[in-house]
Amino acid sequence: MCCCGGLALLYLLALGFLQSRALQVEVKDDANKTCIYATLMVNFTVSYETNASEKNMSFTLPNDVTLDKSICGNESVGSLLWLHFGSGHSWSLNFTRNATAYRGSAIKFTYNLSDSNLFPDAKRNGTITTVSNVELPPPVPLNTMYTCNSEDVVIATDVVQRLWGVRLQAFVVNGTLSSNASQCEADAPVTPVVPVSTTYTPTAAPTIDEPITGNYSISSGSLVCLLATMGLQLNVSQTSNKTSWITINIDPSNTYVTGTCDNKTATLRLNSSNRFLSFVFVVRNSNFYLKEVNVSLPSFVNGSAFSDGNGNLSYWETSLGSSYMCHSEQRLQITDAFLLNTFNLRVQPFRVTSGKFSTVHLDH
Ligand SMILES: *[C@@H]1O[C@H](CO)[C@@H](O)[C@H](O)[C@H]1NC(C)=O
Ligand SMILES: *[C@@H]1O[C@H](CO)[C@@H](O)[C@H](O)[C@H]1NC(C)=O
Ligand SMILES: *[C@@H]1O[C@H](CO)[C@@H](O)[C@H](O)[C@H]1NC(C)=O
Ligand SMILES: *[C@@H]1O[C@H](CO)[C@@H](O)[C@H](O)[C@H]1NC(C)=O
Ligand SMILES: *[C@@H]1O[C@H](CO)[C@@H](O)[C@H](O)[C@H]1NC(C)=O
Ligand SMILES: *[C@@H]1O[C@H](CO)[C@@H](O)[C@H](O)[C@H]1NC(C)=O
Ligand SMILES: *[C@@H]1O[C@H](CO)[C@@H](O)[C@H](O)[C@H]1NC(C)=O
Ligand SMILES: *[C@@H]1O[C@H](CO)[C@@H](O)[C@H](O)[C@H]1NC(C)=O
Ligand SMILES: *[C@@H]1O[C@H](CO)[C@@H](O)[C@H](O)[C@H]1NC(C)=O
Ligand SMILES: *[C@@H]1O[C@H](CO)[C@@H](O)[C@H](O)[C@H]1NC(C)=O
Ligand SMILES: *[C@@H]1O[C@H](CO)[C@@H](O)[C@H](O)[C@H]1NC(C)=O
Ligand SMILES: *[C@@H]1O[C@H](CO)[C@@H](O)[C@H](O)[C@H]1NC(C)=O
Repeated sequence: MCCCGGLALLYLLALGFLQSRALQVEVKDDANKTCIYATLMVNFTVSYETNASEKNMSFTLPNDVTLDKSICGNESVGSLLWLHFGSGHSWSLNFTRNATAYRGSAIKFTYNLSDSNLFPDAKRNGTITTVSNVELPPPVPLNTMYTCNSEDVVIATDVVQRLWGVRLQAFVVNGTLSSNASQCEADAPVTPVVPVSTTYTPTAAPTIDEPITGNYSISSGSLVCLLATMGLQLNVSQTSNKTSWITINIDPSNTYVTGTCDNKTATLRLNSSNRFLSFVFVVRNSNFYLKEVNVSLPSFVNGSAFSDGNGNLSYWETSLGSSYMCHSEQRLQITDAFLLNTFNLRVQPFRVTSGKFSTVHLDH
């Protein structure tokens, strides 16, 4: 499933929704620095026995929790988020990490059948603990926030848990929450990738490695006004019948950046000694989109130099002040002889503040 979309927009929508209801917690280390951050909502349905029959009780993880016995962890010791609520109930999620990523490992839910508010007429008393091994979150790069608005269902004996509205970061570096986010696959893209009417598939293109992801920025005065992170691959054909295609990866280390920003238009041009690839972004109402892409290449396959482009595109439309993001490979048709493949894409051509991609306001 693709994962393209205007990220900040999603966050803001989620935030509006979350503010009234989501639980937000931060586990702090000895130096009072945040090491685990989480907002989430959980619905529980527990079935239990009364003298007469079996009953199902549904309730929501309350906002009033304590974090006793939570553990910050490190590379050798796992991290633990442990929420205690009500009369002897608790919910925990533990995490492991390696040098590059962290992930969730197990959810442990303990409920107290002696709590007559939640479980009236329960036949049994005392607490019951269920453990569910989960990959929630799945591996997330270190120093990255995991976000998932979609619902995740965790089923254990007698207990169904529905989790949603999740924003979570474990092993927070130096107490500072990351502005990088990793979205779960289930979250629907905000901006669908609209295919152009005809698609020419480069049949003869050799399979080559994924391009290296480059980080590019443009400044206006001393302020960064455009940010782009992307791996770029060109597919071009010089033959009129489009049977022979050439694939070229852009090497960021071999590229220098030029460009301009103003309030309505931003350009990004990636240059190397004898070729360039340029992008033009334009404001439309309260959105921006990619309007133009041009390429110029020196001669290859005994042909003449190749120049091509399209000034009438409409890709990546996203609200101003947000960034457009697409982790998976995205194929953009620019012309019938020029395809552009992007990888690990994130771009924000307008309203960049403090030289960073826009993201959630995590404090409120
Ligand atoms: C940690 O910070 C909180 C609020 O910022 C403060 O009340 C508390 O005393 C601090 N604890 C330590 C150990 O510094
Ligand atoms: C309780 O929930 C379970 C699982 O959703 C369902 O199979 C069962 O029929 C429900 N029992 C009652 C009494 O509603
Ligand atoms: C969560 O539970 C509340 C009340 O128990 C219910 O109104 C709501 O629809 C549930 N939401 C989900 C996503 O299950
Ligand atoms: C990890 O944390 C444990 C417990 O707090 C500590 O004993 C250990 O030295 C730490 N290891 C590293 C590599 O920081
Ligand atoms: C997480 O919790 C589960 C269940 O208690 C346990 O099996 C697993 O070893 C724990 N993982 C870590 C890293 O502590
Ligand atoms: C379970 O609930 C009962 C009744 O509220 C309470 O007395 C008991 O201490 C609770 N158990 C735990 C382990 O907290
Ligand atoms: C860390 O874990 C991730 C996900 O499980 C894995 O892809 C990666 O190779 C691991 N890195 C190292 C250095 O072990
Ligand atoms: C359930 O039955 C037992 C004995 O049969 C009785 O002692 C107990 O009070 C009953 N509990 C409820 C909630 O009715
Ligand atoms: C729980 O049940 C056991 C036996 O069924 C009883 O001895 C005990 O007193 C009960 N405890 C509570 C807190 O009700
Ligand atoms: C952690 O943050 C503090 C202040 O926020 C800074 O002084 C310190 O250099 C940072 N340490 C690292 C390792 O980034
Ligand atoms: C496509 O054009 C090239 C040269 O322009 C020619 O060599 C080749 O045979 C043509 N292929 C087809 C399938 O027409
Ligand atoms: C761009 O917008 C800023 C603030 O809205 C304004 O001060 C500035 O004059 C505008 N510049 C241009 C060239 O329109």
